[in-house]
Amino acid sequence: MTAAPAARLRGEPVARSVFAGLPARYDRLAYLLSFGQDRRWRREVVTAAAAASPRLVLDVATGPAGVALAVAARTGADVVGIDLNEPMLRAGLARVRRPGLPGRVRLAAGRADQLPFPDATFDAVTFSYLLRYVDEPAATIAELARCLRPGGVLASLEFFLPPQPGWRAAWWCYTRLALPVLGGLAGGRAWFDVGRFLGPSISAHYRLHPLPAHLAAWREAGLTDVGYRLMSVGGGLVMWGRKAAGPGS
Ligand SMILES: C[S@@+](CC[C@H](N)C(=O)[O-])C[C@H]1O[C@@H](n2cnc3c(N)ncnc32)[C@H](O)[C@@H]1O
Repeated sequence: MTAAPAARLRGEPVARSVFAGLPARYDRLAYLLSFGQDRRWRREVVTAAAAASPRLVLDVATGPAGVALAVAARTGADVVGIDLNEPMLRAGLARVRRPGLPGRVRLAAGRADQLPFPDATFDAVTFSYLLRYVDEPAATIAELARCLRPGGVLASLEFFLPPQPGWRAAWWCYTRLALPVLGGLAGGRAWFDVGRFLGPSISAHYRLHPLPAHLAAWREAGLTDVGYRLMSVGGGLVMWGRKAAGPGS
């Protein structure tokens, strides 16, 4: 079985090309295509970030700002969202400016592996669906941890592969066969392409960076109490950790 060509691309080029046509209906389709599980997974990330009782939060790869807005609403914190993809950011800007939403979310262009913030700026840092698009996940985790204050929380959401063989087989059929078709029917060509890209991209990511490598990267970045939860039979992976307090703090 050969992977779809986009799944073999890595890093910034794929992040720019895959998401170029998606912003308009991103959240609705992400919900539909994950059988509604995506919202539960995001809530878990928000809960992990809220444990830091944050006043200032960074949401990296914020896309249309769904997690950024949820963190602002849940915690009362000011939230900065960054993303490298301008169409996604424009969709996010339109959303955070809607009346009735907490006016505490600001968005800016930026890259996860070169954050434009000083050390120890944020009480919590969140990201969702980012690590498949960076060249060196461990270096990116270290960069995110750099911007956390000691005692602050890093919390993330990524797709994962169900560990149980029966569910893994069902997941494989869904991602390889149904997802491109459903994506295309619901969202047109751009969503057919992303439906075809997603499954092979997830499989390739965990072949290169298995779960123990992620856990090791978080610990090497200075995070303690690193934990994770597999959700929805393992289709989603929520992870969290707390930045170790420095000497004398
Ligand atoms: C699947 S979307 C997720 C958006 C959002 N986190 C959510 O859950 O709705 C992935 C996002 O990651 C962004 N992205 C990918 N690589 C990035 C990087 N190196 N730095 C910043 N953003 C990145 C993409 O532009 C895209 O908006």
